Amino acid sequence: MAIRKVGVLGCGLMGAGIAEVAAKAGFDVVVREVDRVTLEKGLGRIRGSLDKAVEKGKLEAAARDAALGRLAGTVDFTDLSDCDLVVEAIVENLDEKKRVYAAVDGVLGDGAILASNTSSLTVTQLAMSTRRPDRFVGLHFFNPVPVMKLVEVVRTLLTDESALADVTEFCKAIGKTPVACRDNSGFIVNRLLVPYLLDAIRALEEGVGSVQDIDEGMKLGCGYPMGPFTLLDFVGLDTTYYIANIMFEEYREKRFAPPPLLKQMVQAGRFGRKSGRGFYEYAAK
Ligand code: 3HC
Repeated sequence: MAIRKVGVLGCGLMGAGIAEVAAKAGFDVVVREVDRVTLEKGLGRIRGSLDKAVEKGKLEAAARDAALGRLAGTVDFTDLSDCDLVVEAIVENLDEKKRVYAAVDGVLGDGAILASNTSSLTVTQLAMSTRRPDRFVGLHFFNPVPVMKLVEVVRTLLTDESALADVTEFCKAIGKTPVACRDNSGFIVNRLLVPYLLDAIRALEEGVGSVQDIDEGMKLGCGYPMGPFTLLDFVGLDTTYYIANIMFEEYREKRFAPPPLLKQMVQAGRFGRKSGRGFYEYAAK
């Protein structure tokens, strides 16, 4: 396999999850954050998740220690220079992503692959901001990364077949199931999921049912693990609002347009679990 060492840009919820599953699967991993404090917080998140897996009897203590031994943290882009694959999982902001690509592109070898975990930006525009558009792909993971089996592997018109084959093999090696997607805003899952979540909010606005009843309906009637409002709070209302705006901008279709209630909740700071209140209230941790 061509990929041995993996870099992860960003150690938030998604970056930490990606670094964790890659280190657990035997890859050397270096994760980069903007400063020492943020890095320590991210590494702490990974340690906590691995400890929990040991407590639950899902992982041997020795396997946890070995995974942590393969994991390094840095604030310096040059520490990514010998990575075969770098997965970017920073904030969903085009300018920020371009800034980070400019910094990492120069230190990586010519054969290295750059991937973005973007959920809604088109991969082509990201790829074209680097000097390796043929070795640039989308690798879209799902939250919580250690649990969710899927990775959307996104190709553009420019993606090299061997890079695509390498990242597909990498996804399998970390225990995920890759699905191939063409570069379209939202790819497969968010293209279908986001209109569903937005429609649940519209149903609430129209008085079809309460938050609880709509959630129960979809959980018990369709066997979904979470109802739409629980999932909205889980994903983050700010994140959903941001994604919906990007998708609406791209497709100009009403089904992607954020409903007024979503906008108001974001303006009111009700972001879901992360802020302690969304459609439901959450006790402070
Ligand atoms: N890390 C590791 N393991 C975790 C975890 C985490 N963060 N969260 C939950 N788990 C494990 C639990 O330990 C438990 O394991 P066990 O069965 O072996 O004990 C198992 O997952 C089930 O967890 P719980 O019993 O605590 O709770 P649930 O049964 O409700 O499961 C869930 C939690 C897995 C999050 C489930 O509710 C679920 O699948 N929800 C839907 C999640 C989803 O749709 N994610 C995709 C969001 S969209 C996205 O990410 C794309 C983006 O672009 C918007």
